[in-house]
Amino acid sequence: PRIAVVVVAAGSGTRLGAGGPKAFVGIDAHSVLRHALNGVFAAPSAQVILVVPAGREGDAMTEALSAAGEERRDLVSVVAGGATRQGSVAAGLAVVWPDIDIVLVHDAARAFTPPDVFERVIAAVGVEAPGVVPVLPVVDTIKRVVGDDVVGGVDRSELTSAQTPQGFDRAVLDAAYRVADREHTDDAALVAAAGHRIVAVEGDAASFKITTPADLDRARGLAAKHPP
Ligand code: C5P
Repeated sequence: PRIAVVVVAAGSGTRLGAGGPKAFVGIDAHSVLRHALNGVFAAPSAQVILVVPAGREGDAMTEALSAAGEERRDLVSVVAGGATRQGSVAAGLAVVWPDIDIVLVHDAARAFTPPDVFERVIAAVGVEAPGVVPVLPVVDTIKRVVGDDVVGGVDRSELTSAQTPQGFDRAVLDAAYRVADREHTDDAALVAAAGHRIVAVEGDAASFKITTPADLDRARGLAAKHPP
């Protein structure tokens, strides 16, 4: 199958507080986006689509070529994102080539996602189900709280946290985006709402999403331990 990876990198980075769009914040000598792209280009994709803040398309292409090599320029597309993550994914889907069979949607903010997570997702799409999401078990005990009152526990054994890359049959993902009439928490939820089966594969702790300043510190620690 021909695979495209849509890398959403158009977030504002407000919670990170680094004074600019998160994808372009430096972890070490390299940005969040550049670290994410090292993993993306290791996966066997025919097309890589970067969805970035309007005005940063040129910077994104520069990052892509430094990660992928100039000779892979033709497989990279760059588009401006939307006001929400879902809008940004939709902008990416609009430029997926006609001959693509499988689409992976990946958060640039999960900059250290290991290659074997991409492999597990790709191996399961269309074989196990039209949608695949990498998950990790929840380690904390979960409480339902209303106001200040703990109103009950939740059975942790069935709970997981969802990561990316999430992989989909291309036609299923396109159709689900066409009929989506509200914001969903992730692409798997949007595709499930359209009536499709989603299966889980094992995620990885290294795929954590860089969101807060503490996450950025953790990313800097990881980058120092695993220099490029
Ligand atoms: O905000 P959060 O970190 O949950 O966003 C997850 C991913 O979605 C990030 O990689 C971010 O750049 C991307 N995003 C986007 N467009 C938005 C909001 C978020 O591409 N409008």
